[in-house]
Amino acid sequence: MSVAVPPDPGLTLSRSTETLFRPFRLGKLDLANRIVMAPMTRSHSPGGVPGPDVAAYYRRRAEGGVGLIVTEGTYVPHPAAGFDSSVPRFYGADALDGWRQVAEHVHAGNGRIFPQLWHVGVVIRPGQEPAPGVRPAGPSGLAGPGQQIAEPMTQSDIDAVVEAFGKAAHSAQALGFDGVELHGAHGYLIDQFFWEGTNQRTDRYGGDLVARTRFAVEVIQEVRRRVGPDFPVVLRFSQWKLQDFDAKLARTPQELEKFLSTLAATGVDAFHCSTRRFWEPEFQGSDLNLAGWTKKADRQTEHHGRLRDAHGRIRPFVPHRRDNRRKRHRQPARSDGARRVRSGGNRPFSDRQSELGGDRAQA
Ligand SMILES: Cc1cc2nc3c(=O)[nH]c(=O)nc-3n(C[C@H](O)[C@H](O)[C@H](O)COP(=O)(O)O)c2cc1C
Repeated sequence: MSVAVPPDPGLTLSRSTETLFRPFRLGKLDLANRIVMAPMTRSHSPGGVPGPDVAAYYRRRAEGGVGLIVTEGTYVPHPAAGFDSSVPRFYGADALDGWRQVAEHVHAGNGRIFPQLWHVGVVIRPGQEPAPGVRPAGPSGLAGPGQQIAEPMTQSDIDAVVEAFGKAAHSAQALGFDGVELHGAHGYLIDQFFWEGTNQRTDRYGGDLVARTRFAVEVIQEVRRRVGPDFPVVLRFSQWKLQDFDAKLARTPQELEKFLSTLAATGVDAFHCSTRRFWEPEFQGSDLNLAGWTKKADRQTEHHGRLRDAHGRIRPFVPHRRDNRRKRHRQPARSDGARRVRSGGNRPFSDRQSELGGDRAQA
């Protein structure tokens, strides 16, 4: 596969900074700028409870000028949602109280924050099943193509998970979060339904790509039912899977458009496209990446009224230009990164190693 990298990433970055600092409106939510902190699992919440250190970690990012923080993935209230006891839960009085404090701290730092609601499905590590007697949940019980590790989910299994996402979204709204992101990427449960490699169902949850959105559609509908029309709902999706980096949900721009328009019509406010290698073209014949194609699908179909819903919602989260030098160098997010970009304080990665070490120790 050809890898196209801009000849001068420094120039591209400086051109893009003006856009980055323009305000952004997501539904009725005003964001100070277009810098979004990506969800990053930290496993720093013993017993699933985010403590004061987690609140301080996110607050530092808000104070550093990030327009919107998407938290690390946090488990929805379902027994098979996750296996790691240091990943925060989004249920239970103790964990929800911790999350309330996270939201309060971020708001005190003038930030905005969405929890990323997560169910891992059949992505489990051997010996780390969610709990004794808890069956992993997957559309066909496939961990990957040909890897049967569980029974397919029954209708009541599906209904229970749909309800869990709805409950978690409702909790997020009640706790004062500014919206929610649904983790529909990377080969986790929602994506296991999207991907034919893990979804071989012959009922209404299986079939072609549009039919395989059925589970996500029910999740989004339930979330909307719980939070109402104005609470921002973002769906993260990816072509790649942890099980297969080369996997593709959509093989053509037309397939992508059908996939997106089905989900948008259900009430998604924005798509968060996870590209893994943002500089790689998504389809042949164009240098646009996945986010670029998502934006283009939006523009093309806006005219025909198919991708946007009645509220005019639907935007890609990620700028499609190849403008992110931090990602190119695999740098961890600094708490003051947004402010430093604005002040032109970017220096080469090698100059910053010691600072990054200090930041990691804090986080
Ligand atoms: C340590 C680490 C933890 C991550 N945790 C999550 C997560 O909880 N949820 C998620 O959607 N992505 C997670 N990611 C993926 C990143 O958000 C991001 O998708 C990835 O670095 C590639 O960028 P892109 O997908 O925006 O192209 C994680 C990445 C790293 C390196």
